[in-house]
Amino acid sequence: MENKPLLFYDSGAGGLPYLAAVRARLPGLRFVYLADRENFPLGEKAEEEVRRLVLHSIALAVRRFDPALVVLACNTASVVALQALRDQFPIPFVGVVPAVKPAAFSLVDGKLAVVATRQTASGPYLERLIREFADGREVIRVPVAGLVEFAEYDYISADAEQRRTVVCRELEPLLAEEVGAVVLGCTHFVLLEEEFRSALPEGVKLIDSREGVANRVVSLLNGDDTRTGRGRASRSRGAELYLKGGAGEQERYRAFARHFGLRFCGAVEAR
Ligand code: DGL
Repeated sequence: MENKPLLFYDSGAGGLPYLAAVRARLPGLRFVYLADRENFPLGEKAEEEVRRLVLHSIALAVRRFDPALVVLACNTASVVALQALRDQFPIPFVGVVPAVKPAAFSLVDGKLAVVATRQTASGPYLERLIREFADGREVIRVPVAGLVEFAEYDYISADAEQRRTVVCRELEPLLAEEVGAVVLGCTHFVLLEEEFRSALPEGVKLIDSREGVANRVVSLLNGDDTRTGRGRASRSRGAELYLKGGAGEQERYRAFARHFGLRFCGAVEAR
C-alpha cells in the first residue's frame, strides 16, 4: 500500500500551527503543506470567488499529491468551500472553523469575540455557528485584516516587541469591550497566539480549533492505517512544504519551513 500524505491547505502560513498540532499526535505519517500564495488574501475576496479558487487549488493538489485526507487549515476556505469540496472529492475533508462552541461553553461572563478575516466575520457560516452554539451570549465579530497581513509577511522577520506592538494596536477596538473569551477565527492569528495573550487582559480565554481538528483527524484515521501507510516503516514520512505561486517569497517560506520543521520543496507543479 502506498504512503499517501495528509494534505494541509491554507492561503499562506496560517495552517502551519495546525499541521504541527496534528503531527504531534501522528508523528509517523507523511504530511504535505500547500501555501496557496496565488490566492492570498482569501479573506478579502467575495464568497463565490473564494469557493471557485479553493476548488481549483484543491483539485490541483489532489492530482499532484493523492492525499489520504485533507485538512482545510483556513477558516475562510472552510466556511465557504468545505461542503462543495466534500461534494466533489471522494476523500475525507477536515475543516477549520471558528471554535464558537467550546468558547461559548468556557465563557463565564463578558462577551464572546470572534476575530477573523472580513469574509469569515461577515459570512452566514459564522452566523449559524453563533445561533447554534452561542445563543443568548453577546457575540462580537471583529475583522482584523491588518493582522492577517502582518502574520503572513512579518511574523518571521519581526522581533517579539514589534509583534506585541502591532497586535495591541490592531486589537484596540476589541480591548475597549468587556470580553470574556476570544476565538482565533483565522489560522494566521494562531501564529501570534503569545502576542494575543499578552495584549488581552488577564483571565480572558483565548481559543482556537487545533485540538478539535487534531482529534477529528485522529478519529478519521483510526482503524484505517493502510491508507496512509501508518505503522509501516515508511521511508517517506516527514513533512514537505510547497508553494502555489509566491515566486518572490521563497526565502520567507524557507524560514517558515525551518521554524516548523518541514522540508521546503518550492513551487508545486501540476502533473
Ligand atoms: N488563514 C486564513 C483563515 O484562516 C486567512 C488568510 C487569507 O485571508 O487568505 O481564514
